[in-house]
Amino acid sequence: MNLQRITVALVLLLLGTSCSVAEEPRVPELKQVFSNYFMIGAAIGTDRLLQPNDPGLKIVAQQCNSITPENLLKWQNVHPSPGEYDFMPVDRFIKYGETNKMFIVGHTLVWHSQVPDWVFEDDLGRPLGRKALLERMREHIHSVVGRYQGRVHGWDVVNEAFEDDGTLRDTAWHRAIGDDYIEMAFQFAHEADPAAELYYNDYSMFKPGKRTATAKLVKQLREAGCKIDGVGLQGHWGLDFPMLGEADEALKDYSSLGVKLMITELDINVLPRPNDGELGAEVSLQSELATGLNPYSEGLPAEEQNALAERYAKVFRLFLKYSDSISRVTFWGIDDGHSWHNNWPVPGRTAHSLLFDRDYQPKPAFWSVVESAND
Ligand code: XIL
Repeated sequence: MNLQRITVALVLLLLGTSCSVAEEPRVPELKQVFSNYFMIGAAIGTDRLLQPNDPGLKIVAQQCNSITPENLLKWQNVHPSPGEYDFMPVDRFIKYGETNKMFIVGHTLVWHSQVPDWVFEDDLGRPLGRKALLERMREHIHSVVGRYQGRVHGWDVVNEAFEDDGTLRDTAWHRAIGDDYIEMAFQFAHEADPAAELYYNDYSMFKPGKRTATAKLVKQLREAGCKIDGVGLQGHWGLDFPMLGEADEALKDYSSLGVKLMITELDINVLPRPNDGELGAEVSLQSELATGLNPYSEGLPAEEQNALAERYAKVFRLFLKYSDSISRVTFWGIDDGHSWHNNWPVPGRTAHSLLFDRDYQPKPAFWSVVESAND
């Protein structure tokens, strides 16, 4: 497993450099390792950007050539009240991406979550009708996308519009505007930055219902003359779901759509699920921290560490199989200490979902991902 590390150390030894100081061999850079296949990205949380010396930011700069804001561009943060935008933290995020010459992703314009209630109401608190809500959506998209025209390279225009069975999710957007709210969002985004890539993004994308719905959506958008460049498969996965065969079939299906595919929010949760069955990524899910739900608070035992490494390797081998279609693989965070899994779906747990541990050290999963490129 540490073959690469050992080889690097041996080369250094032969060059005679290792005898001077016990210098750590340089950690491979995933963006280089996968440079012939896809970009490597990470989501960055707000707090990081307030601390320029944050070790996580340094790792992202070293490992990644793409970034996504974990929360900054969600409606409630960037546009908290009518007429009030908070662009300052986003500007900082963009500057970090530009300094490091990264592909910058905007997440997300139209979503049912992390959007304040006022968005859907008039001054008297009554629900807005179609026309007024469309105007509000247009204004928001033009302000946000327009401000970062040419600097944000791709947008998650609509996030999570479908239920697992492929029906349209019942959201305030859908209730007020109707079925074409997705189309309208794509149209506004295109007007605001004609060169930006535009994506539809969702979780549990390996499920048959979502596969059918997404294929239909891409077709509908095209028929309506809308630009859609890609489909984002979030990738909030577990050790045992999706099954590899399922994920393989889904990727095969999506590849035939003729749009770019992205794994946009990859993390693999090793913690027990509060209820049996698969876990999607519905952010409103919340369960109590019951006994047995936080088994690895002192660290991940070797056996589980290896299972995670194995799983990551398999998943990356699959991504490589479809690398002609996949343009980017983005992790939802960089180190375990800052993973959203520490607080979702159960608050206060110790998550182990990412490639770097709480001390910012590469985990066995990191090395197995590196090695997956050599198979
Ligand atoms: C999550 C963030 O990671 C959390 O910090 C926040 O509290 C809730 O949202 N799908 C998405 C992401 O598209 O925006 C969500 O991010 C995770 C699920």
